[in-house]
Amino acid sequence: MSGLFISFEGIDGAGKSSHIEGLAQAFRDQGRRVTLTREPGGTALAEKLRALVLNDAMDPLTEALLMFAARRDHLLQVIEPALARGDVVLCDRFTDATFAYQGAGRGFDLDVLSQLEQWVQRSDALPPGELRQPQLTIWFDLPPEIAAQRLAGARAPDKFEEQPVEFFRRVADGYASRAAQSPQRFARIDAARERHLVWQQITSVLVRRGWLAIMVATPPGSPA
Ligand code: TYD
Repeated sequence: MSGLFISFEGIDGAGKSSHIEGLAQAFRDQGRRVTLTREPGGTALAEKLRALVLNDAMDPLTEALLMFAARRDHLLQVIEPALARGDVVLCDRFTDATFAYQGAGRGFDLDVLSQLEQWVQRSDALPPGELRQPQLTIWFDLPPEIAAQRLAGARAPDKFEEQPVEFFRRVADGYASRAAQSPQRFARIDAARERHLVWQQITSVLVRRGWLAIMVATPPGSPA
């Protein structure tokens, strides 16, 4: 079986996590091996970088470089080997997050981000010039005001979560621009809807692509 690389994106509070777990289970139930991972993070080194970049103040270039440094290690150590084995790789955030948060949110130069993307996402497994990108990006889209309500009081916020709603409006616009540039890769999910309706949207995308065989009615593991 050939590997499958799916990323999950959206502003903080969009509700990705529980659905990613559910999808991992749905793929396993259909006999697929799943690598469940996240960015920044996914390796010992990248998790150390995550702790720094999510908590320490730094200038935007340093922040972008650390995101891509973590990504390079993650690609080499985890994502490429998993795809070579034929796993389904479910990755909680990838490069679109850098364009949305560091680019649109912080206002950092998008051309520099594109350059870094060119360097970091090269792969020996791909023809020269091709970059490693997710085959599908599930984009949890919802208004920043609703996300802020969902996040309020949930836990101690990290450096990004404590940003004002205007920051997340820019991040959301950043995701919308990325989606417009790669409409085949992005699947927009209306994340403001009830949980089971969000799940339904996600599974129907995967069924349509032929990657899940059947509609899974409720997220595996959720109460009947
Ligand atoms: P997140 O994925 O939301 O994890 P958790 O649910 O544990 O909070 O947190 C990662 C944060 O990092 C999120 O606020 C977005 C930010 N981020 C960037 O700013 N740039 C990036 O390239 C990535 C991958 C994440």
